[in-house]
Amino acid sequence: MTLKQLSVASECAPFVKTGGLADVVGALGPVLGAHDVECRVLLPLYRQIAHLAKGAKEVMNAGSRFGGPVRVLARRASGIDLLLIDAPHLYDRPGQIYLNESGVDWADNHLRFGLLSWLGAEIGQNGIAGWMPDVIHAHDWQAGLTPVYARQNGSTVPCVLTIHNIAFQGNFPATTMGALGLDPEGFTQDGFEYFGYVSFLKGGLMLADQITTVSPTYARELMTPEFGMGLEGVLVARKSDLSGILNGIDMIAWDPATDPALAQNYTSRTLAKKAVNKKAVLARFGLGTDTAAPLFSVISRLSEQKGLDLALQALPAILGKGARFVLLGSGAPELEQGFKDLAHRYPNSVGVEIGFNEDLAHLIQAGADATLVPSRFEPCGLTQLCAMRYGTLPIVSVTGGLADTVIDANEAALAAGCATGIQFAPTTAAKLGDAIDRAMAIYADTKAWQKIQRNAMKHPVGWDVSAQRMADIYHRLAGA
Ligand code: ADP
Ligand code: GLC
Repeated sequence: MTLKQLSVASECAPFVKTGGLADVVGALGPVLGAHDVECRVLLPLYRQIAHLAKGAKEVMNAGSRFGGPVRVLARRASGIDLLLIDAPHLYDRPGQIYLNESGVDWADNHLRFGLLSWLGAEIGQNGIAGWMPDVIHAHDWQAGLTPVYARQNGSTVPCVLTIHNIAFQGNFPATTMGALGLDPEGFTQDGFEYFGYVSFLKGGLMLADQITTVSPTYARELMTPEFGMGLEGVLVARKSDLSGILNGIDMIAWDPATDPALAQNYTSRTLAKKAVNKKAVLARFGLGTDTAAPLFSVISRLSEQKGLDLALQALPAILGKGARFVLLGSGAPELEQGFKDLAHRYPNSVGVEIGFNEDLAHLIQAGADATLVPSRFEPCGLTQLCAMRYGTLPIVSVTGGLADTVIDANEAALAAGCATGIQFAPTTAAKLGDAIDRAMAIYADTKAWQKIQRNAMKHPVGWDVSAQRMADIYHRLAGA
């Protein structure tokens, strides 16, 4: 029997994306289709995606909610069935989806994502245009109140909550409770109360039927003070309902054989053609035409999480040994400045582009020899998975999904012929530097390097196994 699933999320690729959450939400629908799950995605109609309203059909008029008129529009786009929340007072504005034009969180984010959560619960209870979900899948804090509203309204629809990143919890002053329409009886330790705040994520973690996160290692890490960010106790208490299911990447969007953003398509059998992309990246960043020197890359949000301050420290020594480096990213002003300064200091070997550019991200993945992911914590990480598919070796810290997806090129793995990248621990600039040195030494041995590239390209990075596990959870909950 086909099972109907409603995804509730604040991002969905290819429409609106700030990071991997969007990739996962966008990929899940199509992959779950193969597992007899019919998926719809409930998503705010931000100004950035206002064009999607054209040709969409109104399927719900919710009247005045959270301070203004609210409708839901349905349409299919890029193979995804979307339910778009049309609430101009909350979503039709400039700036980014979470931040205003000054780079500060929108002051009414509790209402913006409270509405998202509320509608998720509403559709879970009453359906929409005759479509009744069997299970709700809420993503991150923005959808965290979905199970809270569902239970408050007496709905029994099963709810899964996925933690993509526990650093973001959606904690707001207790005074927001009224505007959010939350029952003050839920403002307890067993509910959505968290140190005197209303916590979207904590509420969801307490009330969801099943909690998943995006890698087995992160699932374990989350139960420790080092990684749980204050919610470790909640996760320990819910341990029996917590599972770590590894993310995959969209194997169609990220396929070096067909990717339209590349200068030259290639496969593991035509690896030599990858060099055409390297040339294109070097040209794009004005770094000359010499493809012999190793080219390292970073494609990332620039935040404390990603450990890129360590790259800033480690890179000068590496550049002194002839390596090249390119970065595409945006975020913390001091990191943006740090990388701009690096490019200024090394104009012939460092290229930096501050911004978000999907096509350039694909080209860099194809053109670089290796990519750096020195994260302090990383729930799953998708860039190392994309890199592997493109024969670009990931150099990663041993944490979360990075620990679970990369096989370090140590002597044993090299001898066994199964290495797919390089890992280092602890997460320090010195160890990152050593790891890059190790990569450079292997790179000098073309045959050895190519062997790892081919392993990486063969490594399963898609959704096959994980989509089945997710579907199994839905079926179990819906059948219970
Ligand atoms: P996170 O979700 O923590 O940012 P992930 O590795 O899971 O990290 O996902 C990041 C996603 O965002 C990847 O698809 C990556 O290619 C993309 N990405 C990050 N920064 C940029 C950027 N500046 N331009 C284009 N894509 C980016
Ligand atoms: C988060 C995490 C990242 C993960 C992504 C998708 O943004 O930081 O590690 O891959 O969500 O689950």
